[in-house]
Amino acid sequence: MRFFILTCACFIVPDVHSVKVFSYKELRKATHDFGGANKIGEGGFGSVFRGVLKDGTVVAVKVLSATSRQGIREFLTELTAISDIKHENLVTLIGCCAEGSHRILIYNYLENSSLAQTLLGTRYSNIRFNWRARVKIAVGVARGLAFLHEEIRPPIIHRDIKASNILLDKDLTPKISDFGFARLLPPNATHVSVRVAGTLGYLAPEYAIRGQVTKKSDIYSYGVLLLEIVSGIHNTNTRLPAEDQFLLERTWRLYEKGNLNEIIDVDLGDDLDVEEACCFLKIGLLCTQDGMARRPNMTNVVRMLTGEKIVAVDKIARPAMITDFAEFKASNKEQRSRAETLSHTTKSFTTTEPFSSSETPTQSSSV
Ligand SMILES: Nc1ncnc2c1ncn2[C@@H]1O[C@H](COP(=O)(O)OP(=O)(O)OP(=O)(O)O)[C@@H](O)[C@H]1O
Ligand SMILES: [Mg+2]
Repeated sequence: MRFFILTCACFIVPDVHSVKVFSYKELRKATHDFGGANKIGEGGFGSVFRGVLKDGTVVAVKVLSATSRQGIREFLTELTAISDIKHENLVTLIGCCAEGSHRILIYNYLENSSLAQTLLGTRYSNIRFNWRARVKIAVGVARGLAFLHEEIRPPIIHRDIKASNILLDKDLTPKISDFGFARLLPPNATHVSVRVAGTLGYLAPEYAIRGQVTKKSDIYSYGVLLLEIVSGIHNTNTRLPAEDQFLLERTWRLYEKGNLNEIIDVDLGDDLDVEEACCFLKIGLLCTQDGMARRPNMTNVVRMLTGEKIVAVDKIARPAMITDFAEFKASNKEQRSRAETLSHTTKSFTTTEPFSSSETPTQSSSV
């Protein structure tokens, strides 16, 4: 076990247990000098490389952008949030590097990339997501999130649950990644007020509009993800006719008509339990309810997914939708061009400042 204290600008990293500190040289070697052939992805905060450590362990090396203060902040948040947390459905942080201006995180390498690149990706993927695989992914992600919300103290709100943050190992076991936006919930607080970060399309309205983060905002994002898992459709597709662009809206319309099965991924063919799939879609609608109190907690979501608890269909009302946002009430044309812009810049709201008074945890009993 190693301990370190890192100071950069005004930050001090608390002792971080179980995280190995790597030298930059070691990581350069592991990734062939961060070579293009080793690059496996690029996110809002930097690039991700595949690497092989001296002992043969295959890792994913996430190099945070050196110039951005946000990158440093994400680095610190991620370290404190996940260094001591282990769960089958959470990605494991192996180590870090904080040499000079370098901020690097080292994770277990996950062979089957992210749900965004495989299930929802436009490029060919040789993974076939049959119904059992989708059930395993939906339940696994829900268990990981229930663990963060209900089983650890203080609880962690992830804040960026989305398909690109769900990684898959060789057996398609899902692992929630990217705790960079995570917020630790102080004892007795039900929400923290923060500047809005995250990805539009998965954002709960109270979070997008008021910056109010609760476990229920993660649950909203999970609901959108669940609809994506069952339908195989990305939550926003601006190439479709206006009325079909948003998956949540489409699902709700079909639910109202009693035709929910029409949104189930056609790729599943007959390999499917239609009743279970429709049940998952209803859980997705419950998780995305406008009233936060109507959204079930993650422990109950797991119980509903596994059939231990009945889905409270009487609580399903029209979900909170992206098109309800004030700016979306504009004309159809404006609506489309705005949606287009937002879908290209998926991380449309991000924090750019270090910790500030707006991020001071607030006590509330509203949920
Ligand atoms: N541990 C890992 N194992 C395998 N691939 C990974 C791992 N971590 C990240 N990746 C790959 O790198 C890609 C980029 O990840 P990253 O978290 O930087 O960005 P993102 O999730 O796509 O976007 P955002 O910055 O909005 O979170 C992922 O989509 C995934 O394909
Ligand atoms: Mg990510």
